[in-house]
Amino acid sequence: MTYSIRSGMGSCHAWRIIAAFVCTALVARAVMVQAADPDPLQDFCVADLSPSAPRVNGFPCKDRANVTSKDFLFTGFRTPGNVSVTGTNAYPTFGAVLEYPALNTLGISHVRLDFGIGGVVPPHTHPFASETLFVVQGSIYTGFISFDGVLYAETLQKGDIYIFPKGTLHFQINVGTGPAISFNSLNSQSPGFLVAANQLLLSNIPAAVLESSLGIFNATDLNLLEASVPPFWG
Ligand SMILES: *[C@@H]1O[C@H](CO)[C@@H](O)[C@H](O)[C@H]1NC(C)=O
Ligand SMILES: *[C@@H]1O[C@H](CO)[C@@H](O)[C@H](O)[C@H]1NC(C)=O
Ligand SMILES: *[C@@H]1O[C@H](CO)[C@@H](O)[C@H](O)[C@H]1NC(C)=O
Repeated sequence: MTYSIRSGMGSCHAWRIIAAFVCTALVARAVMVQAADPDPLQDFCVADLSPSAPRVNGFPCKDRANVTSKDFLFTGFRTPGNVSVTGTNAYPTFGAVLEYPALNTLGISHVRLDFGIGGVVPPHTHPFASETLFVVQGSIYTGFISFDGVLYAETLQKGDIYIFPKGTLHFQINVGTGPAISFNSLNSQSPGFLVAANQLLLSNIPAAVLESSLGIFNATDLNLLEASVPPFWG
């Protein structure tokens, strides 16, 4: 009798262990799936961007003996971006690993956005990162589309922050009466930057596919659409 009760408890205990193990494995998997860049294996690894460096997941580390405090300094945001060059009256200045090699392996990067009046950063995604946008100057209407197709958007004032969850389509427009500036942070050293209109219309997808997908009926319409896309963002 006693033995059978113990045996029952033992088996229950065993099931708890198995359940806990499965639960832990699922949580670990969820964490892996949600994680941005993998954790670093050393304190820093300033990227060696030279073309002769071996290709790895990220960049190899610069010789530590040659690393100085200057490697950790990024001055690329001192100068405003030239909003005249993009065709949408806005300009993104990137501070990701290619511009700021000290970010290599550290899972973070930055962007400065400059906007003229009415300036737009077209709808785009970052496949490898979530992003926050902090308004430094002016007023920006911004938002993202959730995976179930809902628009979440707000008009931000100086000092406000908005977040674009990883992989979601998002955009910005300057709705103030003067120039606007934002400082954005992304949880990847190399977030990826895919502009929807350019991906769709400037990538040689066959006309029949685009005409059917967009519900347009002749190549003239498609050519007009394709010619209207600002190529800078592609
Ligand atoms: C490190 O710096 C020294 C002196 O400037 C240079 O000769 C050497 O090539 C550098 N090493 C690497 C791996 O860049
Ligand atoms: C900005 O770009 C425009 C168009 O390319 C150019 O004419 C102008 O000189 C640039 N301004 C600055 C400050 O570089
Ligand atoms: C193309 O289709 C549009 C309607 O979407 C129509 O207005 C236009 O006349 C058509 N053009 C030609 C060349 O068939």
